[in-house]
Amino acid sequence: MLALAAMTQDPPDTAPPAPGRAAPDASGAPQRAPEASGPGEFGHAPVLPAECLAALDVRPDGVYADVTLGGGGHSRLILDRLGPGGRLLALDLDPEPLEWAGSWAGGDGRLILARGSFARLGEILRERGLPPLDGILADLGASSRQMLSPSRGFTFSADGPLDMRLDPDGPLTAADLVNGLPEGELADLVYRLSGERASRKLARAIALRRRERPFSTTLDLAELARRVVRPPARGRRIHPATRLFLALRMAVNREQEALASFLGQARDCLLPGGRLAVISFQSLEDRLVKDLFRPGPRDAPRLWIPLWKKPVVPGGPELSANPRARSAKLRAAARAPGP
Ligand SMILES: C[S@@+](CC[C@H](N)C(=O)[O-])C[C@H]1O[C@@H](n2cnc3c(N)ncnc32)[C@H](O)[C@@H]1O
Repeated sequence: MLALAAMTQDPPDTAPPAPGRAAPDASGAPQRAPEASGPGEFGHAPVLPAECLAALDVRPDGVYADVTLGGGGHSRLILDRLGPGGRLLALDLDPEPLEWAGSWAGGDGRLILARGSFARLGEILRERGLPPLDGILADLGASSRQMLSPSRGFTFSADGPLDMRLDPDGPLTAADLVNGLPEGELADLVYRLSGERASRKLARAIALRRRERPFSTTLDLAELARRVVRPPARGRRIHPATRLFLALRMAVNREQEALASFLGQARDCLLPGGRLAVISFQSLEDRLVKDLFRPGPRDAPRLWIPLWKKPVVPGGPELSANPRARSAKLRAAARAPGP
């Protein structure tokens, strides 16, 4: 049987219509989005583009990292502001964005592409012989392209394998968890990561069904959730499988652990004054970022200087052009001087 380490306790905010994205609960003062926010051929529009650039304060000769390359929307905006002496390290777990970047970057020598997890950012910088950075951007989660491709198993709008790996070579699939976790662990995991109130009922129904026939497809599991999870009587209605799919995705990709490891090393990867900007889509992730930037005890040295008190969220025009941005929260801070 599989065992998973405990992750986090708090359920996310109201779950979203699109799997894996929770609704925002904070205000911000976003600036006007630049025109480069259209989805482009990769099918993913960069979220809060102007705000990310403002947060990073890109210098033409600086060295930056976009640790979640995806469709390259943010990377391209950063490259546009870099001069010939600037450099950008772009990371992704998934080889597809890196291949795609090979096509749009056209051998741009300022762009360094690397496959790997941001959980290993420090190591990757050392392997590549890169100096401490002027800025780091992380746009967490999955890209629209990953979320919408039935073959990746994130969506329950179309049938596909119950996979959900961001890294297609990763060791664990959603089917492994659904078919292999003990019922109690499955219920705990779903509740911890998504706040699904019917987690026990769901785990029970899954355990009974898999004795007859293991789950292998997204629609099969979504159909079970539809039968077991009652929609709320009032308020925003979401598909009954939304929270289950969110929890499985987070567990398969160990998203909380990867984020915690990344945040734990981000300061050492930056120059004093260097900027860290993180876009999150779930309250569990946002809380980790918020806690990182929070000042310590009164006499402790300040490690981060937050750029804004509240997270920045997309404004009306961006949301009309890109509804998938609706749960985004951007927090950013500068590395305080000192060791
Ligand atoms: C929301 S998308 C980024 C979109 C991108 N900013 C753009 O404008 O097109 C997130 C990307 O991060 C990647 N990713 C998720 N977790 C990762 C991790 N731990 N390390 C590296 N990449 C990761 C996903 O594979 C996905 O391509």
